[in-house]
Amino acid sequence: MLGQIILLATAAFFNLLVFVHAQEIDTYDLLMPNVWPHSDELYLCTPIRISPRTSYYITGFKPNATMHTAHHMLLYGCSEPGSNDSVWSCGEMQSNGVDQIYNTANPCRAGSQIVYAWAKDAPSLQLPEGVGFLIGKDSPIKYLVLQVHYMHKFPVGKTDNSGVFLKYTKTRMPRQAGVILLGTGGVIPAHAVEHMETACTMREDKVLHPFAFRTHTHGLGTVVSGYVVHQKESGDVWSLLGKKNPQLPQMFYPILDTSPIKQGDVLAARCTMNNTRSHTVSIGSTNNDEMCNFYLMYWVENDTPLEQKYCFTPGPPYYYWTQARENFNRIPDLEASTL
Ligand SMILES: *[C@@H]1O[C@H](CO)[C@@H](O)[C@H](O)[C@H]1NC(C)=O
Ligand SMILES: *[C@@H]1O[C@H](CO)[C@@H](O)[C@H](O)[C@H]1NC(C)=O
Ligand SMILES: *[C@@H]1O[C@H](CO)[C@@H](O)[C@H](O)[C@H]1NC(C)=O
Repeated sequence: MLGQIILLATAAFFNLLVFVHAQEIDTYDLLMPNVWPHSDELYLCTPIRISPRTSYYITGFKPNATMHTAHHMLLYGCSEPGSNDSVWSCGEMQSNGVDQIYNTANPCRAGSQIVYAWAKDAPSLQLPEGVGFLIGKDSPIKYLVLQVHYMHKFPVGKTDNSGVFLKYTKTRMPRQAGVILLGTGGVIPAHAVEHMETACTMREDKVLHPFAFRTHTHGLGTVVSGYVVHQKESGDVWSLLGKKNPQLPQMFYPILDTSPIKQGDVLAARCTMNNTRSHTVSIGSTNNDEMCNFYLMYWVENDTPLEQKYCFTPGPPYYYWTQARENFNRIPDLEASTL
């Protein structure tokens, strides 16, 4: 018998996910509830609360959006959502923005991690056989929060249902999926090519099997590359996980080197930015600002994903690989910035 979803309105605000008889893969529609994007560059968030009595595994994501409407969508896992409203304004750097219609809050109040990301008409993502994102009872992810960054103000009366169809199962998956997001802050001088770089040594005693990566910048990014660095006495070995032109569809692409990543290995990413404008561009949330992101999706076998969900540095001019505490050598300077 196929599983079915029963939605219960709880506490007047949340939809409580209850899955019944779900041996099979089922679908949950996580869509914006007829929102009205009433201004340009609006970020809106909507939550679902996962039933705390059951564990579920998300095995795939089917986006339901177009790049004409949505600049990007992010799916956050949270232990606590940023707000108890059914919709709120959730621009990362708009804390001073007072919205006339929606309250303002972060996507998550606690336990923030990225589960899925979409932009530029990227197609569906199906996780490998036996791999799933654990949510609910045995997971720190008690809520999923969908964030949509709308490009433009909608006409009065026109509402939106962008979102993601989630493929899920109650069947235990032996391999749990996780995402670590590498990124930077920083500034790009006018008429200059700049490298935005980050690196983190893996401290946790886990074996990661990387399988997908995604890059994200706004208009100035030309190449984003991600590496795992094995630091040996004979010198650093930089192994390319993936690199992409971020102006192509920003989907999850297969990892080039799927060798396991172990404790002591270093994850590193670089965004090469070409600022053709006549003013400095900073990292920020609007389309006039920039972003430098490399998402690494991996699975762990009979283990839980990394506690570490983010690897960020202040970026240029404060941080470069050449000044990293890892004391890198053999930096693949040319390879990291060319396609
Ligand atoms: C999303 O899906 C719903 C139906 O489930 C559809 O009515 C709507 O137009 C879709 N939105 C977009 C942006 O594709
Ligand atoms: C949401 O409601 C719960 C229960 O009333 C409360 O404990 C929590 O602080 C609220 N969260 C926010 C973000 O206001
Ligand atoms: C930066 O952009 C300019 C203008 O499009 C182009 O001429 C130049 O070759 C680019 N530089 C790099 C390093 O991509």
